[in-house]
Amino acid sequence: MRSSVLVSGGAGYIGSHICLRLAELGYTPVAYDNLSNGHAEFVQWGPLERGDIRDPARLAEVFALHRPCAVIHLAGLIEVGHSTADPALFYDINVGGSIRLLQAAEGAGVRAVVFSSSCAVYGAPQQTSIGEAHPLSPLNPYGRTKLVVEEFLQELARWKGMSSLALRYFNAAGADLTGRIGERHEPETHLIPLAIDAALGRRGPLNIFGADYPTPDGTAIRDYIHVADLADAHVRAVEWLLKTPHAAGTFNAVNLGSGQGASVRELVDAVGRAVGSPVPLREAPRRAGDASQLIADITKAQQLLDWQPSHDLETVVRTAVQWAQASPNPL
Ligand SMILES: NC(=O)c1ccc[n+]([C@@H]2O[C@H](COP(=O)([O-])OP(=O)(O)OC[C@H]3O[C@@H](n4cnc5c(N)ncnc54)[C@H](O)[C@@H]3O)[C@@H](O)[C@H]2O)c1
Repeated sequence: MRSSVLVSGGAGYIGSHICLRLAELGYTPVAYDNLSNGHAEFVQWGPLERGDIRDPARLAEVFALHRPCAVIHLAGLIEVGHSTADPALFYDINVGGSIRLLQAAEGAGVRAVVFSSSCAVYGAPQQTSIGEAHPLSPLNPYGRTKLVVEEFLQELARWKGMSSLALRYFNAAGADLTGRIGERHEPETHLIPLAIDAALGRRGPLNIFGADYPTPDGTAIRDYIHVADLADAHVRAVEWLLKTPHAAGTFNAVNLGSGQGASVRELVDAVGRAVGSPVPLREAPRRAGDASQLIADITKAQQLLDWQPSHDLETVVRTAVQWAQASPNPL
């Protein structure tokens, strides 16, 4: 029988790509999602179990039915601006929901958990390339909820023997190489889909927040990782937890990024080339709390998971453009 892996948030952008990769490698992905921001049509490689991560009875039912060997936990709210407007909701879902889910996993005897964390746990960068030892000082409720869950996972490792890896993503981007699934957030706040929609004339000019940063072209630099590379790292993380004897009862945090920086202007130019028409732009002031550069040091992921990102920025942009062109007009 194929082993099943419960993927909370499996109907979302990153979760659906993880389900695809799990299925490619012979697992049955069970997507657990309340569809608040997910899409039932993204769940193509295993069952969709509708449910909220704050619902212990529903969680117990799904764990008993599928008996997963591991949990990959992505479900939650993701938008930083929303977290500052409604911190209570973020703590309720991202922290309270995670505790319920992890309690259910523990009760069902699951020993391996992979958690979607974020580079937001680091806060203002103290150096250009950020390693896992960088101080943890989130700047907003979103980042803080990720850190609290990491701390709870450490408790479970120490007191309950549960093994876990928190994967701190930088910026997930791109879409499935054959166009089956892609990025669809509502509202969309991520740079690449916004730039594509602007270039396709689906929305007005793209705001560039800050053109006076101390970077070569004045715009902010970020680390973009193709979603298929992210997905592959999650399956490696599950296998590392399940198959490495010294992983038992440990917690580790690992960065996932490309290890390379790209400026807003470089991205916008790449989008313009891929779409075949330039991205209309509007320069706007810097946003409070935005760093000039955020780039992942991915040495630990490479060593621990024997993982290497394999898709470059051109592939990120090309697959995102293909996905957007095949998707309904958001207006
Ligand atoms: N997109 C990025 O660049 C990025 C960067 C760092 C971290 N992350 C993290 O990765 C994870 C997935 O992000 P995404 O971009 O795929 O977002 P997404 O919104 O597409 O996916 C999140 C999924 O969780 C589901 N969900 C939300 N609340 C739920 C609840 N209470 N119960 C059950 N399901 C619920 C949503 O319906 C959705 O399908 C999130 O935890 C996010 O914080 C994303």
